[in-house]
Amino acid sequence: MLVLGIESSCDETAAAIVADGERILSNVVASQVLTHEKYGGVVPELASREHLRKIGPVVDEACRRAGLALKDVEAIAVTEGPGLVGSLLVGLVYGKTLALSLGKPLVGVNHLEGHIHAVLLENKLARRAGESVDEIRFPVVTLVVSGGHTSLFRVERRESGANSGFTYQRLGQTRDDAAGEAFDKVARLLALGYPGGPVIDRLARFGNPRATQFGRIKMKGNPLDFSFSGLKTAMLYRVRGTALATEAEERRAWRKTAGRVTPEQIRARCSQATLDLVASFQQAVVNDLVERTLAAADSARVDSVFVSGGVACNSLLRERFVEAARQSGLGVFFPSPALSTDNAAMIAAAGFYKLASGSRADTSLTVYASSPLGVTSRLRGRE
Ligand code: KG4
Ligand code: ZN
Repeated sequence: MLVLGIESSCDETAAAIVADGERILSNVVASQVLTHEKYGGVVPELASREHLRKIGPVVDEACRRAGLALKDVEAIAVTEGPGLVGSLLVGLVYGKTLALSLGKPLVGVNHLEGHIHAVLLENKLARRAGESVDEIRFPVVTLVVSGGHTSLFRVERRESGANSGFTYQRLGQTRDDAAGEAFDKVARLLALGYPGGPVIDRLARFGNPRATQFGRIKMKGNPLDFSFSGLKTAMLYRVRGTALATEAEERRAWRKTAGRVTPEQIRARCSQATLDLVASFQQAVVNDLVERTLAAADSARVDSVFVSGGVACNSLLRERFVEAARQSGLGVFFPSPALSTDNAAMIAAAGFYKLASGSRADTSLTVYASSPLGVTSRLRGRE
């Protein structure tokens, strides 16, 4: 089945055509980074306007690259939420209109479910390419970690029967900022650029992660919840009124006139103290993400862990998970960077399974801002 996926939940307008949930025929992403860069974060009104401009050309390009006409597409899967409502509406209305006019089935996909399916899709692609990859054994624990989300799910798969498909149990989530949001805000504080994650990842390699010891993040109540706002505030106190702040203001002024700059140019304008602080911050976030995910895997008694979402591109996070997997015997699975960040191939892949299990949306399909994915439940017994 050829599924056209459409994704517009945040600042990426994306369309992809995926065959049978496992073969990517095209995967087009139009980024809005240049639009939002000067604000240091996504401006919702600008994002909707950009989606409106790009949705048509991006869908056309996905068909062109796949060598198909729109009428050859057999079904349409569109992100229904969570995300920015104005942005989501652009993709959803476009997908709904296409489905109606072409007479094709439509299905709505939760964005987080898409990120989870990116891992399965990656695994299938690697198998098709003849790579030796570990087998995924369900149930798994998934960490979805991006600019908008930091959540842990236990995912089960039923392969046959009337209830075939995936079920999601939410084990924990952030109570304030998402991890990617913390990267972006710290990068803004230090005038390092936008989005913050990739640049901090690059700069942290040159800093000493032990230079500043941030305390472990303690959670009252559910130990599988996250909180990054305290760490963000601790960073603010380390910078405010110090030489680091003066240095950041100099960088900010330089960036205003410099146009597009490379990470190397940014690094050349960072003192060792800034690089050390950035490395310490990254380590604190990564330690917390890895520890809670491993604790979730232990409590949920699973053998495999998925890590997905934009922050899953982080090199230290990947290293730490691979190391933890080696030590504990857990299977750890990531999508490639292109499938980790927002894309529509993951939406088409998730949509394929929903369509295969008989799910169909009608014209009442609409968007939602926050995530209803999974029953929320607290694991007990091993806290
Ligand atoms: O999944 P995504 O493309 O969009 C959302 O659903 O939010 O994730 C974007 C987020 C941004 O906050 C960005 O700073 C972060 O992912 N990110 C990273 C890295 N690459 C992207 N964070 C840390 N290290 C990276 N290498
Ligand atoms: Zn995302």
